[in-house]
Amino acid sequence: MNILILGGGGREHALAWAIKQNPKCDRLIVAPGNAGIARLAECSDLDILDGAAVVAFCEANSVDFVVVGPEAPLAAGVADATRAAGILTFGPSQAAARLEASKGFTKEICDACKAPTAGYARFTDAAAARAHVQATGAPIVVKADGLAAGKGVVVAMTEAEALAAIDDMFGGSFGEAGAEVVIEEFMSGEEASFFILTDGKTVLPIGTAQDHKRAFDGDEGPNTGGMGAYSPAPVLTAAIQRQALDEIVKPTIAEMARRGTPYTGVLYAGLMIDQGRARLVEYNVRFGDPECQVLMMRLGAQALDLLLACADGRLDQVQVSWAEDHALTVVMAAKGYPGSYAKGSEIRGLSVLPETAGQMVFHAGTAEKDGRILAAGGRVLNVTARGETLAEAQARAYRLVDAIDWPEGFCRRDIGWRAL
Ligand code: AMP
Ligand code: GLY
Repeated sequence: MNILILGGGGREHALAWAIKQNPKCDRLIVAPGNAGIARLAECSDLDILDGAAVVAFCEANSVDFVVVGPEAPLAAGVADATRAAGILTFGPSQAAARLEASKGFTKEICDACKAPTAGYARFTDAAAARAHVQATGAPIVVKADGLAAGKGVVVAMTEAEALAAIDDMFGGSFGEAGAEVVIEEFMSGEEASFFILTDGKTVLPIGTAQDHKRAFDGDEGPNTGGMGAYSPAPVLTAAIQRQALDEIVKPTIAEMARRGTPYTGVLYAGLMIDQGRARLVEYNVRFGDPECQVLMMRLGAQALDLLLACADGRLDQVQVSWAEDHALTVVMAAKGYPGSYAKGSEIRGLSVLPETAGQMVFHAGTAEKDGRILAAGGRVLNVTARGETLAEAQARAYRLVDAIDWPEGFCRRDIGWRAL
């Protein structure tokens, strides 16, 4: 079959890598892709936020299956457009994508299905929001309601920080995304990510992971989109996974169906685990990045069969087969990230690294020029390895990191510490 993946980061490189290994995949196109993806798939500069353009592209290229990587095309209704055109599609509808696109909506769903989450209040004006913070005190969490590229959340340790965040959000720093603000109770505990495929009826867990959000070793420095990840996450024990499925995920899926907006695709539940119980931090309606890289490394070619069954409403007929192994990915970023950074520096040493089922360098933000690989983003490479133990996966990943010659880049040296 001919398959189109929308997106161009490390997540999409990992999806393409897994899908390409499955003999069902004949032709693989990724839009826009990147320099790493270009070595295993065709890349196209299609406008992935334009549903009509995506449909026309699918028709012109006889695409049988569309996999939507990032949240922006989902929130823009691209999966609705392709499905309406009769094209099998992996990814939720625009209405269901509100589970990521509106934090207030997610809270409303949690209330309706009694899913455990932080207490909250919603505001559309700064004065009421400020009064709420002054009455409640810190620590407290202030969130722009809409999509803000991972930057719309301020975990405020002091009242002053919370008030500044409110002014910032209502002041227009996040555009439309900040027109409504959700203020939440601060939850303490350990965070982990739980990934579930659902066709709207069946719910199939496909793995757990933990991310490292801070830029520097020891969880210091500014928040980022994620500096590394590993799977599985030992903190998500079988018992906690069961509790999260029964109390959070299944009730959410049932509530979405009850409202006539069934959720299909991957549901990424960000959980806070404290005293043996999980509460919901947030939902994402797509795979995590870089969590997807470690999940795909562990799933391999079967990932395509799972995504197809999910899109086709046949999830009750499939199973996930797990190697009892571990995967770990280290993000190499351009110096300066998540602040300002230079683009265009050359990365050497990649072409001699063996790429196998046990180790892969996924590209997140790269471009090719005259046969040279250049940095083209903040997060640039995802150096990923598997092992029988997490320690072995970590050692392998860092051996790969050390073989890459890129003085303009940096990475954390402690990915996985929490679980080791
Ligand atoms: P979100 O975009 O909602 O995942 O928020 C980004 C990060 O902020 C999360 O991964 C958590 O580390 C933190 N966070 C969000 N909500 C809360 C909360 N209610 N209590 C504590 N930390 C939170
Ligand atoms: N790594 C966090 C995310 O994908 O949202």
